[in-house]
Amino acid sequence: MKKILYWGLGSVILLQFIRPDFHNPKVDDTVALQTDAKTMSILKTSCYDCHSSETAYPWYHNVAPLSWVISANIKEGRAALNFSHWEAIDANVKLERLERAKKLIRNEMMPKSDYLLMHENAVLTNEDKKTLEEFFDSQIEKL
Ligand code: HEC
Repeated sequence: MKKILYWGLGSVILLQFIRPDFHNPKVDDTVALQTDAKTMSILKTSCYDCHSSETAYPWYHNVAPLSWVISANIKEGRAALNFSHWEAIDANVKLERLERAKKLIRNEMMPKSDYLLMHENAVLTNEDKKTLEEFFDSQIEKL
């Protein structure tokens, strides 16, 4: 019994040596999204940890296996939509992501539910949703 415990503990410690790269890329202000303070504050609180180069890492981000889940979310999130590259995104792709963002927010599929468990302040109120929807619509009109 003791042996199993030691093996278990040993494996958990060994897992800690497999570390994802948590380096935030530099933000280029000429292409990063610029918008009004209210919209920006909602995006920064609820979306930027996975959809920008300005991720704020929680204290447990280095603890495996959580670190792998967090790293995958950031990698896939940035690949799908990165507000730090906003002006450099192709117009057709942008349109698609904006339409999708509206649906995902309406259906409460973004921010992701596992993330919300640890980030209660990122839960969108109805007013936040309205502000974001208006922002997405204003961006769609510009295209
Ligand atoms: C915990 C990380 C995380 C947070 C926070 C988050 N997202 Fe995502 N998002 C992802 C990941 C991962 C993907 C890509 C995989 C997928 O679609 O599930 C994604 C995909 C997307 C896509 C592209 C979907 C597609 O299929 O084209 C949009 C749009 C999006 N998110 C919008 C948002 C918005 C808006 C917010 C804030 C209100 C937000 N997300 C918050 C992780 C996150």
